[in-house]
Amino acid sequence: MIISMTNAKGGVGKTTLAVHLAAWLHLYDLKAALFDCDAQRLSSWWMKTAEPGVDVYVAEGAEEEERAVAIDELLPRLAEEYDAVVVDAPGGLGREAGAILSHADAVLIPTGTSGLDWEGLYWTTSTIKEIQKLRNEAPEGIENLNISEDERRKYLLPNAAIIPVQAEEGHVAMADLREFAHGVQFGMTTATLPYRQKHIHITPKRFHQKGLVDRPGSLMWNTGRNKEVRDAALDIDAVFQEVFPEVCAVDPYRVGEQVATRRTIDAVKWEIDNRTARRSHGRERIAS
Ligand SMILES: Nc1ncnc2c1ncn2[C@@H]1O[C@H](COP(=O)(O)OP(=O)(O)OP(=O)(O)O)[C@@H](O)[C@H]1O
Ligand SMILES: [Mg+2]
Repeated sequence: MIISMTNAKGGVGKTTLAVHLAAWLHLYDLKAALFDCDAQRLSSWWMKTAEPGVDVYVAEGAEEEERAVAIDELLPRLAEEYDAVVVDAPGGLGREAGAILSHADAVLIPTGTSGLDWEGLYWTTSTIKEIQKLRNEAPEGIENLNISEDERRKYLLPNAAIIPVQAEEGHVAMADLREFAHGVQFGMTTATLPYRQKHIHITPKRFHQKGLVDRPGSLMWNTGRNKEVRDAALDIDAVFQEVFPEVCAVDPYRVGEQVATRRTIDAVKWEIDNRTARRSHGRERIAS
């Protein structure tokens, strides 16, 4: 399965989520790879230092067009070799994004909720809709046809879901976002990724001053066991558990156990069960 993090707008959390999703699938024993398609090459750098157990690939090429060709060639091959290929797409909707979306089974769209984010979201969802039509030869007016959910999903590749970032239930724009997702018939997770300062500490960092050792990247759930880290790790876990319930169905506590001390483990399990119960109503499944 190919899962892409895509948004026309930059800086919304694509790289953060791509790195964590590939590592999360690996934690759940899937053969997972990260495919870094952004010329910034940040996710590949991050992953290599944070979780060497996840295979990393990069879309080579100095120009956009070259990278798009590399994506077209490599992505189908990776999909055959791995259970899951997580793609970190560049911001924008250029040639690379087109190549990725023409192969992806699922596209996750992390987004903020400001006016600027809406602009990016609008272009992103419109483009995905166009690609769904081109890829699947869906009948005219598919949105209004009275067909089963399974039948409809066949015409909607890549399946798409919106993930609210730096937003929480109750924020002013959340209801609008939900209405928008419903209107375009995309999923939207009920779990969100609120703003968490800890994100500053998990990225790799190059110290340019002489004598300092570079800091490797980390995954949120490998970063410590204090409450701040645990909350941030469980936010990310909650989003992935919601999108891929079948992956973690047997044992939903793996991330929780990474961030829990012996004394707090019951509390963490309670919290995970509680979050699951809260969001089970209206859960969106976008991948099978
Ligand atoms: N939930 C969060 N709370 C606080 N900071 C966050 C959160 N998620 C991501 N960030 C931070 O926001 C910044 C942008 O995130 P990231 O690089 O993942 O976005 P991106 O969409 O990949 O950006 P680009 O379009 O440049 O590739 C980073 O500094 C990251 O550490
Ligand atoms: Mg990025």
